[in-house]
Order: sequence, then structure tokens, then C-alpha cells
Amino acid sequence: MGFSTTVIPVAGLGTRFLPATKAIPKEMLPLVDRPLIQYAVEEAIAAGSRRVVLVTAPGKESVLEHFRRDERLEELLEGRGQRQRADEVRRLAGLAEIRAALQERPLGVGHAILQARDRVQGDAFGVMFPDDYVLGQVPALEQLRRVHERYGGVVFAVERVPRERVDQYGVVAGEAVEEGVVRVHDMVEKPPVQEAPSELAIVGRYLLPVEIFAEIERTRPGAGGEIQLTDAMRALMQRLPCHAVVLEGTRYDCGSVLGFLQATMATALARPELGEPLRAWLAGRFDVDR
Ligand code: UTP
Repeated sequence: MGFSTTVIPVAGLGTRFLPATKAIPKEMLPLVDRPLIQYAVEEAIAAGSRRVVLVTAPGKESVLEHFRRDERLEELLEGRGQRQRADEVRRLAGLAEIRAALQERPLGVGHAILQARDRVQGDAFGVMFPDDYVLGQVPALEQLRRVHERYGGVVFAVERVPRERVDQYGVVAGEAVEEGVVRVHDMVEKPPVQEAPSELAIVGRYLLPVEIFAEIERTRPGAGGEIQLTDAMRALMQRLPCHAVVLEGTRYDCGSVLGFLQATMATALARPELGEPLRAWLAGRFDVDR
């Protein structure tokens, strides 16, 4: 009951990050020295995906190019004796079988996923939003895979958020069936704070059965005039088990400027070659203890 394909929608407008995202896709913004999309693809592979479908928009070809072979660059680096850099560049092209799908207009995440339909193999597939970046011991999609292996159906990631922020997320209602796993009875997109059924907010990792495509097709535009994935999952939940995994690790919303800055710092501080010098620089220059 595994999965071999992961779909990564990258066709959004990234308006919260303008003007940086006017000419550069949000997913190509780097955390330290790797673009967000690379962390996402590497996480998909770490969870067992062999095929990755990138749903792009016109003008966002650089996201695909990042994973294409560039022999000229490799030769140039080799010629300069930069063997390690050449290997790193070559490795990118061999990471996974990368496929492209096109979303002509940003009609929502559900609609973006639907564009990947013909390229998905198997009965279930992964979905990741690269701007939800998770740093932890076990890769987030792998945490979902382990739960999916036991329960099948629909599995997605949640995070406990402060009550006053629940109105920015999809929120679930359900009961715990084991440590960190919730059997979901219902979910609602961006509820008013007083009406939210819990503080468990859906974050961008899902394992979905292919039946979701038919549900997305039936889904009418919802919040913000967009075709939401939450609405399609809600319909599917009537027929199939649905579980939420409370993610271990720290999630950063890299679609927001503050979240992106926090993720940059956390990633740099966790790098062996950068952590020490960065810590020393911060301590010497800023009042980091407040
Ligand atoms: P977001 O809602 O965070 O992205 O979508 P956005 O719309 O690009 O950003 P803002 O809110 O305007 O700043 C989560 C993921 O889904 C993709 C985005 O590219 C992002 O990776 N997405 C979103 C699509 O592929 N298509 C869409 O129509 C909407």
C-alpha cells in the first residue's frame, strides 16, 4: 500500500513575498544555498517517492530547470578543479524522475493537484507544499507514510497552533487514536476563531488515494473563489478513513517573510560549517537574549 509519486504544486502567485517573487518563483527562494523546492523534492524521495510531479505556471520554468542536467556547468566546474560542486550539480538531475504539469491560472491548490492527474502512478500519492518547511528528525512526509501504512485512506499533517491563529488554516475535528495520530471526523477551512473545532491546523503534507481527483472535479470554488483541497478531502472522508498526523519537528511558513527568515536562521544554525560562526556573529553583534 505504498506510494511512488509525489505532487508538488508550485503554480501560486506568492503575493505575500512581492516584489521578490515578481520574476523569481517563491519556490526558488533559497534557504541558505538551496532553493525551497530542492528541500521538498529531497523530502519526497526520503519518504520513498521515485517520481515527482511539479505543477508549474507559465513563467515558472526555472523550478523545472533546477533539476535538469547542465553538462556545460558541470564541465566548467570540473575544469576548475571544483569536483564537489560539479557532483552536487549532477546529483540534482538524478534525484528523481521529475515530471511537469501546467496550471494555466492560479485557481487554487485543489485545481493545481488535478492538473497532475495523468502523471500519478499507483493508488495513492503524496502532496507537498514547499513553502511549509519542516525541520525535524524524521522527514515530515515519511512520518505520514508510516501512519498511512497502518490505516490507508487519507492521511495528512497537522500542527497545534495558538487559538487566535486558527482562522488562517484548515482545522480538524476528531479524536486521538494513538500518540500523535487523530482520527478525523470533520474539517473546516479558515473557521472563525470561536467556531473552530480544535487548534489542530492542516499543514502542507498529504497522502491521498487517487479517488481524490474525482472529488476535486466535483468541488465548487470555495474560500477565496479557489478550488480547495480541504473540501474534496471532506467529501472523500465520508467513504474512507481519514487520519491526521501531529508533526514532530518545527514547521516554518516560508510563504511569509517572517517564517522564511526564521527558517533561514534555523537551517543555517543547524549546518555544521555555519552554525558556530553564525552563533558567534549573532552573540557579538545583537542582544540575542533580549
Ligand atoms: P499558497 O496559498 O501558500 O501560495 O499555496 P500562493 O498563492 O503562491 O501565495 P500567496 O498567498 O499569494 O503569498 C501553497 C502552495 O500551492 C501552490 C503554491 O505555489 C504553493 O507552493 N499553488 C497555490 C498552486 O500551485 N496553485 C494555486 O492556484 C495556488
